[in-house]
Amino acid sequence: MHENVVRDLERARARTLELTDLDEPELLAQHDPLMSPLVWDLAHIGQQEELWLLRSGDPARPGMLAPEVDSLYDAFRHKRADRPALPLLPPVEARAYNYEVRGRVLDLLARTPEADLFTAGMVVQHEEQHDETMYATLQLRQGPPVLLARQPLPAGRPVDGERVFVPGGPFVLGADAATEPFSLDNERPAHRVDVAPFWIGRVPVSNRQWSDFIADGGYHRPGLWSASGWSYRRQAGLQRPKFWTAEGTRRRFGIEEDVPPGEPVQHVCYFEAEAFAAWSGGRLPTEIEWEKACAWDPDRQARRCWPWGSAPPSAGLANLGGQGLRPAPVGAYPASASAYGAEQMIGDVWEWTSSDFAPWPGFTPMIYRRYSEPFFGGDFKVLRGGSWAVAPSTIRPSFRNWDYPIRRQIFTGVRLAFDA
Ligand SMILES: [Fe+2]
Repeated sequence: MHENVVRDLERARARTLELTDLDEPELLAQHDPLMSPLVWDLAHIGQQEELWLLRSGDPARPGMLAPEVDSLYDAFRHKRADRPALPLLPPVEARAYNYEVRGRVLDLLARTPEADLFTAGMVVQHEEQHDETMYATLQLRQGPPVLLARQPLPAGRPVDGERVFVPGGPFVLGADAATEPFSLDNERPAHRVDVAPFWIGRVPVSNRQWSDFIADGGYHRPGLWSASGWSYRRQAGLQRPKFWTAEGTRRRFGIEEDVPPGEPVQHVCYFEAEAFAAWSGGRLPTEIEWEKACAWDPDRQARRCWPWGSAPPSAGLANLGGQGLRPAPVGAYPASASAYGAEQMIGDVWEWTSSDFAPWPGFTPMIYRRYSEPFFGGDFKVLRGGSWAVAPSTIRPSFRNWDYPIRRQIFTGVRLAFDA
């Protein structure tokens, strides 16, 4: 397990350095009010690694930065919009600090018993989550491209609109330390849940389907939208997914290109997802339905590690890790099918569910107490499955992400569900 944690730490750091290998003005700029300057993410990654692994999570314990500098990287103290005005560490100092922290962490891990590696796994996932956030920042950035796609993606096949049946009955929801040692507090504990039968999309909704929704007046028919969704649609003037133009093109990492019809739709908010589902005669899945369709093996009456089985994700099974800079077309991963036949559940796009973010029964907070708990019961919808920008170490069938229903800058898409 040591080697895996060290490998994942190194993989995360390589990505962080690649995403911040930019000229200083690019790192200091705030590319969008929703996002931090990249140089804040950079030092925050090291500061959190130091806090959780070298200071036992106690911010009062003296660290490597002066207290007034250390506190600049407390995400709860400074809102994203205020971060550019803070006296942040310049990029050179931030990199040197991260390097120093990492050296001490690797020394410490060599002496850490296996049973105590959870916090290091949590730190890996924290860095990987910020890497995905930095992809979102770079997608929002204006100007010529600074990222290049480095991974060819498999071709799709015509399966959009198909759905698969999931019979009713109990299954095991969530994870435990024994099966998923690096599962986070909000995924635990595993427990049995009964689910009514339902249908779920074989693949995520495609741009082709979304264009039909637009052409059919979907953005102008209040009957398809919830009351709060319609009011937000009007207020924000939503007409199409974020980064799409009226001319049928889209802007993606500084490139303008035709919207590829076969790719899963990206950059839609929860309210748009809900309206699209109503237009399709379906609905969004609950997160519990989503997880059953993804992970349950009815023949074995047991969970699978991954929808397709126990093999770790690979280039033929899922689009993860960020190098493709886009979702793969729908139907690109037939071998990724779950026991029920749902494909592309891991990677490509985060999928909106109709569920509010709430604890599973028996929830116990982990060392990073404020990771989940402050967000339970807020105005958040759960997203599942991870996007193309997520690292394999930071996604599992039980992994739960959450965000405001108006968010569109994240790599979000839609999978439909239907009552049986
Ligand atoms: Fe963070």
